[in-house]
Amino acid sequence: MISDLWYKNAVIYCLSVETFMDSNGDGVGDFEGLSRRLDYLAGLGVNAIWLMPFQPSPGKDDGYDVTDYYDVDPRYGTLGDFVDFTHGCKQRGIRVLIDLVVNHTSDQHPWFQSARSDPNSPYRDWYIWSKTKPAGADKGMIFPGVQETTWTRDDKAGEYYFHRFFKFQPDLNTSNPHVQAEILKIMGFWIQLGVSGFRMDAVPFVIAEKGADIKKPKEQFGMLRTFREFLQWRQGDSIILGEANILPEDNLKYFGDDGDRIPMMFNFQVNQTLFYALASGDTEPMIEALEKTRDKPHTAQWGMFLRNHDELDLGRLDEEKREMVFQAFGPEEHMQLYHRGIRRRLAPMLGGDQRRLELAYSLMFSLPGTPVIRYGDEIGMGDDLELPERNSCRTPMQWSDEPQGGFTKSDKPVLPVISKGPFGYEHINVAEQRRDPTSLLNWMERLIRMRKEAPEIGWGDYAVLETGTPGVLAMRYDWRNNSVLIVHNLKPEPVEVHLDVGCGEHGKLLIDIADSESSEADGQGRHRLLLEAHAYRWFRVGGLDYLLRRTEL
Ligand code: GLC
Repeated sequence: MISDLWYKNAVIYCLSVETFMDSNGDGVGDFEGLSRRLDYLAGLGVNAIWLMPFQPSPGKDDGYDVTDYYDVDPRYGTLGDFVDFTHGCKQRGIRVLIDLVVNHTSDQHPWFQSARSDPNSPYRDWYIWSKTKPAGADKGMIFPGVQETTWTRDDKAGEYYFHRFFKFQPDLNTSNPHVQAEILKIMGFWIQLGVSGFRMDAVPFVIAEKGADIKKPKEQFGMLRTFREFLQWRQGDSIILGEANILPEDNLKYFGDDGDRIPMMFNFQVNQTLFYALASGDTEPMIEALEKTRDKPHTAQWGMFLRNHDELDLGRLDEEKREMVFQAFGPEEHMQLYHRGIRRRLAPMLGGDQRRLELAYSLMFSLPGTPVIRYGDEIGMGDDLELPERNSCRTPMQWSDEPQGGFTKSDKPVLPVISKGPFGYEHINVAEQRRDPTSLLNWMERLIRMRKEAPEIGWGDYAVLETGTPGVLAMRYDWRNNSVLIVHNLKPEPVEVHLDVGCGEHGKLLIDIADSESSEADGQGRHRLLLEAHAYRWFRVGGLDYLLRRTEL
């Protein structure tokens, strides 16, 4: 059955083992702790986890600097604990995607240590070297303002090495067939330990040609097909979820015309315009971004998201729009990062206003793709702007109002638990919100259930309906003789819209699936909807007998 493509209609929860739950009182989260929380995640309703890097690492970039691809960092447990965790997930029907960081290693990785020590090392050609500092060395930094160059001299090697990211992250020479073979081996290893695939870090850089003489690096798309083939042969349901902040005209090159490259990517185009829509109430640029990213092979899927562990990157918006988002959500300099983004969590950006948070999540969950949420989002966790760079939004999960938010028994958590102000763990925590039927947590659980029961969104085709105002987005999804209609008012004031839903006779009746109201069309077949400020409405088109009407094809 085509619906075996599980990632087309999943809800993915991103978390870092380090900050989720500490079981042994050393202040650092671990796999044992995470396993104990799996019932919580199952109860929330998520059916896939994206696990951030947990391999041995000096931890200079939150684990995105790996020293051993075949182990678990001892601070988080052992491989045994990892397998216990994937087994626990399997028992609960939760899939696991893990970060695959193979654009670069840590400079402490034995491969790099060997490569720099000896020109004849078998690993020398696993990295990118140059005898002199290449011309564009001070361009193309990923972390402007913090990272100074992309070529750094290594005294031991007597040469410069290339690093797209920080200087402690030397780029792997991914064109080298030995490196490619190793990447496959790494994937094969974790597949065997129970994962369903990988969130591939920095895909455009992984596949880029690299070297001192390369002026305009070309992407080596064939590599993506190699990864895909390998994974599918090893385990048919395993996928790559690519981190690729690319232009729409390149989408198909990454997905592959026949869906023969990577099956899933984060939709950065929609992400940035979504924040613009939240800031301005104008949904038009987002509708354009949706249109530009509509075309994809039928096996491909978008990962939709609001915030992640990095800064909210606004680099693809034009200056005016970017300024507008900065003004609305990160007006002060210390909230901004790398001249292009905002380093805050969503809840503080929206002033902790539950109505607006609900609007934002309802909107994201109803976009064409698979929603990806981040730990703590479900309770509206805040950020700690006193922490450097992106650490501001990586603080420990807030479980209860007990010391350290119930994250650890230690009084020295790996990163400080937020304990001051309206987002402190005394106010914002899971235990408290569990008791309150109107809490964000309980609302999110209902949203997840509603989304999972609307496979039309993950699988179907969509149409953006005419609402007569850019402040209101109405989208209809059609799949197997069923339709859902989802309407959002992004404006802070109430509005009345008149909608022609289409769908013939069925389109005359709308049943609200979150609320008790329904709507019947007027004589001209149009629905008159009164939407409150920041309202969201999810409707079944044509009545609640829809499952009796659903077809096989
Ligand atoms: C990706 C990650 C980011 C990391 C970088 C280098 O962009 O999301 O957190 O710093 O890659 O690996």
